[in-house]
Amino acid sequence: MTKPIKIVPSLLAADFSNLAAEIKKVESAGCDWIHIDVMDGHFVPNLTVGPFIVKAIRKITKLPLDTHLMIENPEKHIPSFVEAGSDSVTIHAEACHGNLKEVLKLIRSHNTRAGVSLKPASPLSMIDSVLNEADLVLLMTVNPGFGGQAFMPEVLPKISELRKKFSGDIEVDGGINRLTSKETIKAGANVLVAGTAIFGAPDAAQAIREMRNT
Ligand code: DX5
Ligand code: ZN
Repeated sequence: MTKPIKIVPSLLAADFSNLAAEIKKVESAGCDWIHIDVMDGHFVPNLTVGPFIVKAIRKITKLPLDTHLMIENPEKHIPSFVEAGSDSVTIHAEACHGNLKEVLKLIRSHNTRAGVSLKPASPLSMIDSVLNEADLVLLMTVNPGFGGQAFMPEVLPKISELRKKFSGDIEVDGGINRLTSKETIKAGANVLVAGTAIFGAPDAAQAIREMRNT
């Protein structure tokens, strides 16, 4: 059974001085969820936004908010991101130190969808034992930290491998555009995050359509 494809704009590539208009733009362009990248300057070298901004975004859209935590010790901050209005919270397996299963359970205990993410170089064996606790697996197709990087095709076999054993959402993030979307869908991904390819496109609706209809 093939899952419907979801296209999820990453706000990292949006104009933050005009965030409400940017969100309305992708909403009317037909996107499915909104992806919010949270970076702490430790797990990744960059710093972005916290729960305060998620709460502000919650007020201006009804679309599901897909929060991607690229932070160390995510368990400390899960309640604030849930209260701010996240519909799914995704943590990195590499940022949990022996408590990955507990952290996923903690997310679900808030009636929020739980996601686990892997960097391109991290093997699936890091999450094999927690797949039952995850609604979503986010396979990074660039090294996390910055938008606008080139897609890493070496992640494709990991997507196919995961699809054999996981029936939940498989999300890909990093360098996704109308060309790379095809390969990831073919490999088994059904949720496609894209920043530059959507916010940088002259016509966001067309960009979304092209990624969906592959
Ligand atoms: C990178 C972030 C991505 C990023 C994707 O660490 O997780 O969500 O914004 O941006 P593009 O689509 O430009 O590669
Ligand atoms: Zn992301």
